[in-house]
Amino acid sequence: MCGIIGYLSRTKGVSKKIIHNLKKLEYRGYDSSGICLLKNNKFLVKKSVGEIANLEQKLNYDDDCVCGIAHTRWATHGKVNLKNTHPHLCPNKTWAVVHNGIIENYLELTKLLQDKNIKLKSDTDTEIIPALMEICEEKNNMDKLKYVTGLLSGSFAICLLNKNENALYVARRHSPLYIAKNQDSCMVSSDPVTFGEDYTTYFPLPDDCFARVDLDTMLVYNKNFEKITLAPCEIGSFEKSAELGKYSYYAEKEISEIPKVVEQILLNYKTVDHFKKLNKQFFKNIKKIKLIGCGTAYHACLMGEKFIQKDARIEAQAYIASEFRYSHPLISNDTLCIFVSQSGETADTLLSLELAKKMGAKTLALVNVPYSSIARSADITLPLCAGMEVAVMSTKAYNAMLTVLKMLSLHLRQLNKNNVDEDLKVLNNVDYFKNIDKIDEISDLVLKSEKVFFIGRVEDYVTSLEAGLKLKEITYINCVSLPSGELKHGTLSLVDNKSLVFVIATDENLLSKNLASASEIKARGGKIVLVTNLDVKRQEEIDYLYKFDKISSSLSSILSVIPFQVLAYKTCIKLGYSPDKPRNLAKSVTVE
Ligand code: M6R
Repeated sequence: MCGIIGYLSRTKGVSKKIIHNLKKLEYRGYDSSGICLLKNNKFLVKKSVGEIANLEQKLNYDDDCVCGIAHTRWATHGKVNLKNTHPHLCPNKTWAVVHNGIIENYLELTKLLQDKNIKLKSDTDTEIIPALMEICEEKNNMDKLKYVTGLLSGSFAICLLNKNENALYVARRHSPLYIAKNQDSCMVSSDPVTFGEDYTTYFPLPDDCFARVDLDTMLVYNKNFEKITLAPCEIGSFEKSAELGKYSYYAEKEISEIPKVVEQILLNYKTVDHFKKLNKQFFKNIKKIKLIGCGTAYHACLMGEKFIQKDARIEAQAYIASEFRYSHPLISNDTLCIFVSQSGETADTLLSLELAKKMGAKTLALVNVPYSSIARSADITLPLCAGMEVAVMSTKAYNAMLTVLKMLSLHLRQLNKNNVDEDLKVLNNVDYFKNIDKIDEISDLVLKSEKVFFIGRVEDYVTSLEAGLKLKEITYINCVSLPSGELKHGTLSLVDNKSLVFVIATDENLLSKNLASASEIKARGGKIVLVTNLDVKRQEEIDYLYKFDKISSSLSSILSVIPFQVLAYKTCIKLGYSPDKPRNLAKSVTVE
């Protein structure tokens, strides 16, 4: 949520570089954006509502500045308008700030400022930060930063400029922030993906730490105000993997990468024994497994729950991270908590991980972004190997999550036997996009219907949830996903001749039950699209049959979701919306 860039260079004209890199963070929020450059001890500020391209139109890139900060916003406090767009300045224009996160006690702190006759201009929680810096009586700027961050509760990653210095002041709590430096420049960013072109290493700023960075020095302090040294991380291929190439949208590119991602996972797990530490000893006292995530990652958790119970016969339960934390979870040292996340920065998932650790659980994370907070914090991390995912709609990362969860469940079934890849090898020989052209026609059916439903049983029910989320997220079409058996317990009353119902069926044993549900819908005038890879003899109930490639039913869910990812994408394009940047959303949800 929100992207931050801070940049200092020995060469003048930094705005172009700043905006170029800010665009790489646009996936984090695109409600509005702004830049603040420092020139002759004065701030030059430009802001714009909407995508960064709008801000770009206001800049001619002929600045002769060596220092600046910029921000792309996903609004939390205050409407999307220029007034609330970052950067924010303090009243005497000494400090400028960009901020990611939520300051929970900002109303209280606003009051403190009002008492000192400080008037704020925006409705944001952010503007209090430079204002507090202005009124802080500490002499030294680092002392001021320490004092002010000490007053803040909630989550934040901040980057500040002082009008009298070519330096960046940064601090973070729960929101990620990274620093990179070379001989000629330094950059602060919410994601190391911006560092690939100019730097070979970077430094993740640890939680509750703050720093002052200029072209020659980097001073970092922990919360006890002790000086610390940060360990550099190498920039790997992940940080460089976000090129759009021949595609019009990242969503299209990322769906097309699914077969390659699965292949990469199989190869990577064959080369590196990621399961080594997940041995008999590790599982000795484990009696139950909890899987925790949000959104699409939560759906992967639900699928993981089904895989683990079926394959390994261990009690498993999936939780939505934001619910998990407040539902008094029963956790002890006999519990393994598995956290699933593409970004590895989702606030609710990260905070659930911290809670589970505190309560004594063993923790395992399945994460795509290798340098993320969740990847660094869990006892053991299994990589998802999906490469960078930019589109807000998560696609290839979901298929990667299912593939790794299936490997894990098979590993648990046969601990220490080590031939998991044998079971999964077939994934290298399937046609992931069989009959995919037919989705075009099906998307017309969606557009003609008033109501859309997705139903299935067990794993296919989970696919129906994910199918519904994809459609809602990028087409804004309201739809309902539910287990087939639940229809007649209430929701069937919604079904009429304007309804389109997707029945997902990949389990031979449950096919007749799914067809019975189809009959119930048909009898009420609903249209049926059956999505299956089974041989279906009885077809009377079906208006449209979509068949994807045959594969054993235990692996079907990795394939069965693809037609729905493509359906959402095609429908979105027909409606003229952006598949990569759906309204109101952002890729990385770093606030609770
Ligand atoms: O980065 P994470 O996997 O932790 O993100 C979790 C959800 O925010 C995410 O999956 C979201 O639901 C997607 N935008 C759905 O496509």
